[in-house]
Parts: sequence; C-alpha cells; structure tokens
Amino acid sequence: MFKIGKINIDKAILLAPMEDVTDVSFRLICKELGADVVYTEFVNAEGLVRASEKTHKKLKIIEEERPVGIQIYGSNLISMVNAAKIAEEENPDLIDINAGCWVKNVVNCGAGAGLLKDPIYLQSLVKSVVDSVSLPVTVKTRIGWDFDSIQIVEVAKRLEDAGAEGLVIHCRTRSQGHKGEPDWSWIPKIKEVVKIPVALNGGIMTAADAKSAFEQTNADAVMIARGAIANPWIFREAKEIVEHGRILTEVTNELKIKTCIRHLELSLPVKGDRRAILEHRKFYSGYLKGMRNASHTRMKLMQTTNMNEIREILLSFLEELETSQVEN
Ligand SMILES: Cc1cc2nc3c(=O)[nH]c(=O)nc-3n(C[C@H](O)[C@H](O)[C@H](O)COP(=O)(O)O)c2cc1C
Repeated sequence: MFKIGKINIDKAILLAPMEDVTDVSFRLICKELGADVVYTEFVNAEGLVRASEKTHKKLKIIEEERPVGIQIYGSNLISMVNAAKIAEEENPDLIDINAGCWVKNVVNCGAGAGLLKDPIYLQSLVKSVVDSVSLPVTVKTRIGWDFDSIQIVEVAKRLEDAGAEGLVIHCRTRSQGHKGEPDWSWIPKIKEVVKIPVALNGGIMTAADAKSAFEQTNADAVMIARGAIANPWIFREAKEIVEHGRILTEVTNELKIKTCIRHLELSLPVKGDRRAILEHRKFYSGYLKGMRNASHTRMKLMQTTNMNEIREILLSFLEELETSQVEN
C-alpha cells in the first residue's frame, strides 16, 4: 500500500519527476490518463533560498493535479531545510528529496546521487528536513553509487529512521546513468527491512512491465519516467492490466493528436510560447508513434515555433490519416 500522508493507494502508479518534462501541463495530462501521484521536476534548493524567480516558478502546483509531490535537491543541510519550508508554502501533498540524480554538475556539488557517498550525512539531512516541515517527506534514490558500493538496504533503513515516510528506488546505480538493466531484485530486500512504502522505478516502458514489477517485487508503487514521455496512456493501460488483467485497445490517432495539441496549449501560459514549443518537441515521437508518414510530419513540426502552424500541421496530418483510412 502506498500510504503517505493523505495518499492511500494500493499498487499506485506514479509519474516520475523529470526536468523540463513534468511541468504542470504534462502532470495534468498524465493525471487525466490515470497517474495516481505526480511529481514536479527537481527544484534547486539554493535557487529557492536565493529567491530566484525562475526556480520559484517550478514550485507552482494546481488543485486538479493532486496528489502531487514537490521534489527538491541540494547538498547543504541548511539550504535544504529552508528550501523545504519554502516548498511547503505551496502546500503539496509531500516533499521529495532527490538523492539519485546522476548528472555531473549535481553530484560534483554533493547533491543528488552524490549524497549516497555519505549515508550518515544523508540521514541527518533528511532528518533535519523532516523535523522542519509538517508535510510528509520522501526520498528518491538509487541502489548505489556503483556496483561495488551498493548499500541500499542499509541506506533505506537509515532513511526510515530519519523519518522519511516513503522511498522511491531507481534500481540502477549512479554509474549506470539511465542506461543498462535496472535490478528490481533490490526492492524485496529493502521491503524486508523497512515498514514505509517503497516505490520501484527504472525500466518500466510498457503496462506489462508495470504488472511484472508488482508481481516480481511486491513494490507498493511503480514510478514511470521515459515510458510516460513515449506514451502517457501507459498509466491507464497499466491500471487496467494490474487491477483487472485487461489489455486496453489502441488509442485512436485522433485522440493522440488532439491530446498532443492540448498538452502544448496547456504549457504555453506556463512556459511562454517559444520555450513551450521548443520543449514540446520531445513529445512528438511518442504522440505520433506508429502513424503512417509520421516522420515527415515530425520534421515539419521541428521547423516551426508558431503555435497556429503547429496546430495546422497536426490537424491536416490527422485529416490525411483519416482519408487514407477511408480509401483503404
Ligand atoms: C529527461 C529526464 C529528466 C529527469 N529529471 C529528473 C528529476 O528532475 N528528478 C529526478 O529525481 N529524476 C529525474 N530523472 C530520472 C527519472 O525520474 C527516472 O528515475 C529515470 O528516468 C529512470 O526511470 P525510467 O527507466 O522509467 O525512465 C529524469 C529523467 C529524464 C529522462
């Protein structure tokens, strides 16, 4: 059971925090498509403490997306405590501490997966944050720094002792980055030593993967990152197969294309037109996957920064698909 604060969901399916991806528009789309809990991208603690407007904007959440977690990252204990207090003012359902980011400039400052190099410090940092806010605090981490230093079972116990109310385990080491096979076998080992909910992350690209993850590990939740970029319907599909053993039929091209447009429309006011349009490019291959001549349309979409043109390109592509279907 994924029970954290007011959240109480059996076999929960979570949308992972992803930088420049999980803004409010994508969180809303995934929520509508069945995600049980969504997370903001990681928010820099030092930026929050400095009152950077750009960083502060990343904290904005809206009622319709609840339950939602705000994720913060940093290595300095005082900054993390103050950042958590600032995040708490936005009233998310939980605050998540990032102890898993593998990116060089993050770990070189001792943040993200860098925190795994000193589990005692990580424990005291988490305890200080827990003691300073009244919201539940969770931690998202990896199984270890590299294959020679996997200490996740001990680390998980330390995090529970520090007062973390839940854990998300990305079942890869820091040295694997986002590649390589995740090792889900750590989840049952962790669950043997902690009572708090444990979510499995890493390598869930299809609904069937979500089902296998629950069956193989008895995780309380699974968290999906790249699989959701490729196919936001994965949440609905995973729920159906996990809860009822049913495989959903294909989503129509019309629904995919209209959702793609709506997703972009939702992000325009949040990011401003130009940035929203540029950042939306990473979603086209997912939304248009499997459609005839999609690559040609994708190329056209990559060349424009005009919203009306994008709408026009996508809607006439839909028309083409529908006409060719009738002709066939
Ligand atoms: C584009 C991108 C941005 C990411 N940003 C974050 C982040 O802000 N915070 C975080 O904890 N993990 C971040 N991650 C890692 C994912 O949350 C997840 O742990 C990782 O992708 C493994 O899950 P997957 O195999 O389902 O993709 C990011 C991953 C991607 C692909």
